Amino acid sequence: MAAPSPSPSNTETMLQEHRSFPPPPAFAAGAHLSSIEQYEALHARSLEDPDGFWAEVAADLHWFRKWDRVLRWEAPDPVWFGGAKTNLCFNCLDRQVDAGLGDRPAILWEAEAMGPDGAPIVESWSYAGLLEETSRCANALKAMGVKKGDVVTIYMGMVPQLAIAMLACARIGAVHSVIFGGFSAAAIADRVVDGNSRFVITCDGSYRRGRVVPLKATVEEALQREGAGIVTDVLVYRRTRDADAPFTAKADGGRDHDWAELVHQQSDDCPAEEMDAEDPLFILYTSGSTGKPKGILHTTAGYMVWAYLTSRLTFDLAGHGDGPRRAGRAGDDRLPWSPGPVDRQSDAPVDIYWCTADCGWITGHSYIVYGLLPNRVPTLMYEGAPDFPAKDRFWDIVERHRVTKFYTAPTAIRAFMKWGDEHVEKHDLSTLRVLGTVGEPINPEAWMWYREKIGGGTCPIVDTWWQTETGGHMLTPLPGATTAVPGSCGKPMLGVSASVVREDGRPAGVNEGGMLVIDKPWPGMLRGIHGDRQRFVDTYWSAVEGKYCPADGARRDENGNFWIMGRTDDVIVVAGHNLGTMEVESALVAHARVAEAAVVGFPHEVKGNGIAAFVIPHGDVPAPGSDGEAAERDALIAHVGRELGPIARPDQIRFTPALPKTRSGKIMRRLLRSVAAGEEVTSDVSTLEDPAILDKLLGR
Ligand code: WTA
Repeated sequence: MAAPSPSPSNTETMLQEHRSFPPPPAFAAGAHLSSIEQYEALHARSLEDPDGFWAEVAADLHWFRKWDRVLRWEAPDPVWFGGAKTNLCFNCLDRQVDAGLGDRPAILWEAEAMGPDGAPIVESWSYAGLLEETSRCANALKAMGVKKGDVVTIYMGMVPQLAIAMLACARIGAVHSVIFGGFSAAAIADRVVDGNSRFVITCDGSYRRGRVVPLKATVEEALQREGAGIVTDVLVYRRTRDADAPFTAKADGGRDHDWAELVHQQSDDCPAEEMDAEDPLFILYTSGSTGKPKGILHTTAGYMVWAYLTSRLTFDLAGHGDGPRRAGRAGDDRLPWSPGPVDRQSDAPVDIYWCTADCGWITGHSYIVYGLLPNRVPTLMYEGAPDFPAKDRFWDIVERHRVTKFYTAPTAIRAFMKWGDEHVEKHDLSTLRVLGTVGEPINPEAWMWYREKIGGGTCPIVDTWWQTETGGHMLTPLPGATTAVPGSCGKPMLGVSASVVREDGRPAGVNEGGMLVIDKPWPGMLRGIHGDRQRFVDTYWSAVEGKYCPADGARRDENGNFWIMGRTDDVIVVAGHNLGTMEVESALVAHARVAEAAVVGFPHEVKGNGIAAFVIPHGDVPAPGSDGEAAERDALIAHVGRELGPIARPDQIRFTPALPKTRSGKIMRRLLRSVAAGEEVTSDVSTLEDPAILDKLLGR
């Protein structure tokens, strides 16, 4: 296994972290899970009797037909809820409407720009309203020729229509493949080709810091690329009404359909397709060790149950019609968090939940849309940037919407810290009850700041470790039950068996770093990599026989809490987003000036990891410190931004005549990491093919 990549949290200070924060007693008293003993008993039961446990969890949701068997497992292929028929969109929308909650808010949306009167632009979508628009959109997809099982590519900004597009696909059994709206034309083309996707849903543009991001133009560019011409139909939601956005109607020989026409001329009646439990639900691409992104496949029933349960427990959710908590329901033998029959008269408070992620990432799939709507909890979508029009925008939103549960990334928290406390202190954040983080390790300093400044010194913090592949939370504190320690992602979710092993697969000792593995199947686990069975088996299932290997380094402390130490493969987590070093290297090598490139991560104050690229140019190495060097560096940074998207832009580019290689020809990345971090080079350089190269890299 490779050394875990550096990150600010992966330091000595974490080994000395002794602060711990038990749940506040008043919070615990009203929580779904309210003690460590209760967590431990349920966790043990979930692993000893998965069939019984998951059958009870699944009973909270709607099934057209119940399963024959809860789990059939032959590694690495599970069948969860085999024989069942269900529909995730139905569980998100129809179920609430049928229970008489149709008029309640389901999605709250806030535009980035303020209205003409200076007031925020807010839309509240009820379950009934969403169901109507989703059904129309689903009928529009059918009119375009989309059939069950077809892959539909979605490339949109954060508008309600993005959630509607996803739900419409789920409704008719089309498989969505959402691409983050900051990705490039090349990224879209690759995914369209890999997914054999003939349909695209996009916007003319989206807003970011007041500027228009030309989404439709980027789609057009993507469809010119090799192989991407398979796309026959593009549905365009006009968000920016930007006259420059290319549009050629299908009727005029193009591919395009206007949402306002096609969707709005459809009937609002579109019965949800009865899906088999293991029917594909979506593909979501994530970076891997090789240049080609992996299309992670999730299926219907298991993912649905997993997104529902993990949302409910991690954020201790209270939804519309839930009625009083278990404490108020004597003699009830359901699981403690089960809402039971809808109580329309209930005046118990309902959460207002806000996850700041984009729907283009798994966090947006599971914890903006698919986990929240079945919990009947209003979920807030914000269109834009955290510093627009000012650096207090997030706190302004929390205050105005009276947000109770808030979920963001450590990289954002570190940026807020830098911006200064005054932006936070302007606002009343006293409605907040649980704070979450996701995407990368959170350093204890940022954790403490989050707790004190945002959480008023009382809100439990849930540091959730999981992956695109896991569908939902795997390791996390549970806010009413477990004691949180800054920098640790806590204990396994119910149903998850996790351990840390040495390279030979034997268990690591207490506090001994090793590979994190998941020992047993869980409902939300990935079912494959689209179109690449061998890569699926090799990537996740070959390090330790029969166990899922996420490629993260970790240790478990004396209290059973997990600490993530960084990736063990060639993925760098930059500002919470996975980037393959190979992807960035390939993008660099595609530039005429570059002969060879090696990319590594280095600790970055805000982003967790930054990207450093060592580049061997064709011809002369530009003189260090010269204008020529600066110009070449800027050109390469811009080039990578165009190829892969702005997130992948290198923070450092160093030109070098050669790269440090072992005699067997392997690039010594550990050494490059030290150079990029500005550290003393302590790695053994005796195996270097050309020891003089180190001096050149260090400019000696
Ligand atoms: C990292 C995002 C430490 C980890 C949901 C993982 C984390 C990768 C945490 C998955 C956390 C995610 N603490 N590291 N709480 N959460 N990671 O697929 O390296 O975009 O393997 O899923 O992010 O990233 P992905």
